[in-house]
Amino acid sequence: MSKEEVRFPPCFFLGLYLILITGHAISAATDREVLLRLKGYLEANNPIRRGAYARWNASDSSPCNWPGITCNDADRVTGINLAESNINGEIFPNFHLLTELTRLDLSSNTIGGPVPADLNKCSALEHLNLSSNVISGELNLAGLTNLVMLDLTNNRFNGSIRSNFPAICANLVSLNISSNSFSGDITGCFDRCPKLEYLDLSSNQFNGYIWQGFQNLRELLVSENHLNGELSSSTFASNCALEILDLSMNNFSGTFPGSIANCSKLTSLDLQDNAFNGEVPSGIGSLSELNSLRLGNNAARHEPSQRSC
Ligand SMILES: *[C@@H]1O[C@H](CO)[C@@H](O)[C@H](O)[C@H]1NC(C)=O
Ligand SMILES: *[C@@H]1O[C@H](CO)[C@@H](O)[C@H](O)[C@H]1NC(C)=O
Repeated sequence: MSKEEVRFPPCFFLGLYLILITGHAISAATDREVLLRLKGYLEANNPIRRGAYARWNASDSSPCNWPGITCNDADRVTGINLAESNINGEIFPNFHLLTELTRLDLSSNTIGGPVPADLNKCSALEHLNLSSNVISGELNLAGLTNLVMLDLTNNRFNGSIRSNFPAICANLVSLNISSNSFSGDITGCFDRCPKLEYLDLSSNQFNGYIWQGFQNLRELLVSENHLNGELSSSTFASNCALEILDLSMNNFSGTFPGSIANCSKLTSLDLQDNAFNGEVPSGIGSLSELNSLRLGNNAARHEPSQRSC
């Protein structure tokens, strides 16, 4: 059998070369086209009051100077800020065509409906702010594996959050999902979020026992849920990183652990409106950074003069 050589005609190499050098330019032009589609979508949904996106000018060759748009050195779109832009209607269903998009801020509008499956394909996203809208339905953003910050505060989300974890965990630093209607239990949920520092689950319908790793966070806020159970005496270890801890308005019971004294950076502790009983742990007196302490409406006996100031 003779050895056959595969021969490419010269024009093949020229074509390949052209694809390589124009690849960037083609992608940048695609970003511009997608933003013009986004503009058209927003204008159709918002015929009267419009935000700064109305000034995105179709005759500009690059979108990188348009209000709210951020680009990288290759003129690819990396950020879209449409906060406070009077937007009604649902989320634009083609954000995933912007393959370099890392920051998306749609906060403080009147955006409704569920999160489209498209958004879950924006795997480069690092910062996603959907706060203060009327977005509903369950949360399914398990495809956003590069998230650093997710803010869903003040929307109408419901159901369990579990299917998103640990998928979105690897880089997650800040998760704020307060003032929604999320439910279900959160035990183990954030175990594989090694970088998590801020967790705000306040004003939802979460129930069951609390997530046990919370002493590694800087801030935990779970006020106004239906969490219950006792905190074990070993809840707060010597490496406790907590600065703000708000467990108020839940159904926690038992004695509050004296190991809270290990949380030497604590500035604010709110245990109000629970069913804690027993003595107020004297260790609280050794927390030198503490400037806000709320213990009201529990079953605790308040022991005076344990503080040595
Ligand atoms: C999200 O947007 C709201 C309103 O614009 C802002 O107050 C909030 O700080 C943003 N969230 C984060 C984590 O930056
Ligand atoms: C949600 O919490 C983060 C972290 O504490 C904070 O930066 C952000 O401003 C909060 N979002 C809103 C809408 O207040």
